[in-house]
Parts: sequence; structure tokens; C-alpha cells
Amino acid sequence: MDSNFFGEGSIKDTLAKHNVYFLPYEELLTSTSVSKLTFNQIVLVIDQNVFGLWQNRLIAPFRALGDRVRTFILRCDERSKTMETACRLYDFLVANAITKNCLLISIGGGITSDICGFVASTYLRGAHYAIVPTTLMGMVDAGIGGKNGLNFNNRKNAIGTFYNPTAVLIDTDFLKTLNQREFSSGKGEILKYSLISGNDYSGVFNSTSAVKEAIASCITIKLSYVDKDYYDNNIRHILNLGHTIGHSLETAFGYSITHGEAVVNGIYFETKLGCDYGIVPNYTFNNVYNAIQRFGFRLLPNLNVLKNVPIFDKKQEGDDIYMPFLINIGDCRVVSIQRNTLLGWISNSR
Ligand SMILES: NC(=O)c1ccc[n+]([C@@H]2O[C@H](COP(=O)([O-])OP(=O)(O)OC[C@H]3O[C@@H](n4cnc5c(N)ncnc54)[C@H](O)[C@@H]3O)[C@@H](O)[C@H]2O)c1
Ligand SMILES: [Zn+2]
Repeated sequence: MDSNFFGEGSIKDTLAKHNVYFLPYEELLTSTSVSKLTFNQIVLVIDQNVFGLWQNRLIAPFRALGDRVRTFILRCDERSKTMETACRLYDFLVANAITKNCLLISIGGGITSDICGFVASTYLRGAHYAIVPTTLMGMVDAGIGGKNGLNFNNRKNAIGTFYNPTAVLIDTDFLKTLNQREFSSGKGEILKYSLISGNDYSGVFNSTSAVKEAIASCITIKLSYVDKDYYDNNIRHILNLGHTIGHSLETAFGYSITHGEAVVNGIYFETKLGCDYGIVPNYTFNNVYNAIQRFGFRLLPNLNVLKNVPIFDKKQEGDDIYMPFLINIGDCRVVSIQRNTLLGWISNSR
């Protein structure tokens, strides 16, 4: 790895400005912006599987703080990213007399940070909050940009807030225990950043240091949109590439496919839709297909599974849905498309 990669220039500056640190986990309290906070209590909100695998390492830095530290273990899957789970965490905070001047630390993947972020932003109208992502998805995307979300009534991320953590600490050692399928899910978002930016990250996955550089690079791409449109009113929609159809696929499969698998299929079918309506040139569709192959993803043959599934999109105004389309690799634009056009096209693709 280029030893200066995190040490010079715009990537380092962007990461520093947004309090994103590539550091060993043990340095969270001492070497990040968390060290400037004063807080009475710490609540570690830890994914159950991550706790099982990394318990000793996770708890060790906090032992000296004695009973000022509490641990809440979260069983993580998409079906439990709900208000009920958030309420269990509120109950725990109240039962342990956790005051506003506390620090919640999310340790896990995107499910953990979405639940913990929502609770941190609402408990006593806002508690201090830090994220330690332990999945590739969390490092490259879910832990970044200040959004959180809970699923509600079969709608992905129907409830959520914008709330920035004080620090995001990325320690890629945690990826050593992540299984292949979950690693690949994170690759799905990295593919999205490849297509949006025109940087081809498909060759990075055999080297730990190259993966680390790719994570940092994707984060800076995400943050460039977040900086321009934090509240997701226009240009940040671009980060939603593949997510309109992707979210519907996740719901239709009862969350048995990963978020990354859904997004990759969403990118493919949305690009095909764009092609059919003259928004996306044929050669771009071919390039997207080739990129998906290079990243090693398999595609669904059709959208049959979306039969009887309501299609929602939060970027909707009246009959128009604002969807990102790749005009070319590295050139993604938000285009308004009639809801009925989208539904009709999906129906014909079944
Ligand atoms: N808020 C955002 O901006 C944003 C962005 C992208 C994705 N998301 C959300 O993130 C969620 C997906 O996140 P995810 O893919 O991290 O899923 P996840 O949190 O469910 O983690 C995936 C699986 O990996 C396990 N795991 C986590 N870390 C591990 C480790 N180090 N070793 C072994 N196992 C580990 C978990 O227990 C879980 O079974 C989705 O709900 C998606 O909507 C949110
Ligand atoms: Zn996503």
C-alpha cells in the first residue's frame, strides 16, 4: 500500500473533516474526536455475532471504567431492524439510568449502526454517539454520512433521522471473521461507487491494503455528495443508484438476500429500464453488465419475485420518482420518471 495514502492530500482531509479514522479499535477513546468529549456513562451496543467472535478485544479498553460501562447485545438481521428493537434499547437505557451525557458506541454492521444511530439521535433528544463498523458494508457505506433507518410495515428504512456520530473508527481487522457472503454484500456498494465515480475497484479484493484504500476512496466519494446535499434533497439521490428496485427485492425475498446482492440486481435492472426508455445508452448498459461480471455477482433472470410487492420510493413527488441513472460509467444523473412507467416496466419484466 502507498504509505502516504491516508497521510496526504484530499482523502486524508476529507476523512479528518468528517471524523472518520482508520485506527486500531483500542484507540477509539484516546486518538479520535471522542477523546474531546466528557461523558458519564458508555453504552456498548454490540452485534451478537461480533460479540461472540471478538468479546475480549471489544471489552478490554473499557474495563478500567468499571460500572460506568454497560453492554447491550443486539441480535442482528434485517427483520429485527425495527421500532421494537429500538424500544428494547430505550428500555435498557432507562433501566440502567443512562443520562443524556452518555456515549453510545455501535459495534457491528449496518443493522447495528442504523438501530443505534436512530436511538442515539432520539434518546433524551440526542446522546453522544460513535460507530465502529465491523462489516465491509458498514465501513464503506452504512457507517458514513449520518443517516439511519428502521424498517416499518414492509418498507425498508421507512423511519429514520439524520444524526452525525462524533467519530467513526474503521479497523479492518474485524473483516477477518466476516463470511464470504457478507463480504460480498459490501462489494455490492463498492461496485456502486465504481460505477458512480469511474474508479474501477474490482481488482482490489486480493489485498488487504488495497481493500483499505478502496474503502477510504469510496468514503470520500460518498462524503462529496453528503457535503453538497446532507438532507438528501437532490444530488445525494445519486447514492441511491440501484436502491429503488433493490429495496423492493429485499422486501420481496423476505430479506433472505443481502443488501449488496439486492443493490447489484437493482443497478442492473434500473440500467436496463433506463436503456429501454432512452435515458441510458446501450454501451453503458453493456459496461455495467461487464462491471457486474468483473465483481463476480450473479444476476436474477427476471423480476418475477416483485409480483404483488408494492414499489415504494422515498424520492417521490406526486407521480414522479427521482431515480439515478448511469448515463456513462462515472456520469450518474438524477432523472424523474413516472411512477406508472416504472411499475409498467417492472410488470413486463416479470
Ligand atoms: N444508513 C446508511 O447510510 C446505510 C447505508 C448502507 C446500508 N445501510 C443498511 O445496512 C444494513 C446492512 O448492513 P450489513 O451488511 O453490515 O449487515 P449486518 O449488520 O446485518 O451484518 C451482516 C452480518 O454479519 C455479521 N457480522 C458483522 N460483523 C461481523 C464480523 N466482523 N465478523 C463476522 N460476522 C460479522 C452480523 O452479525 C450479520 O449477521 C441494511 O439494513 C442497509 O439498509 C445503511
Ligand atoms: Zn445501500
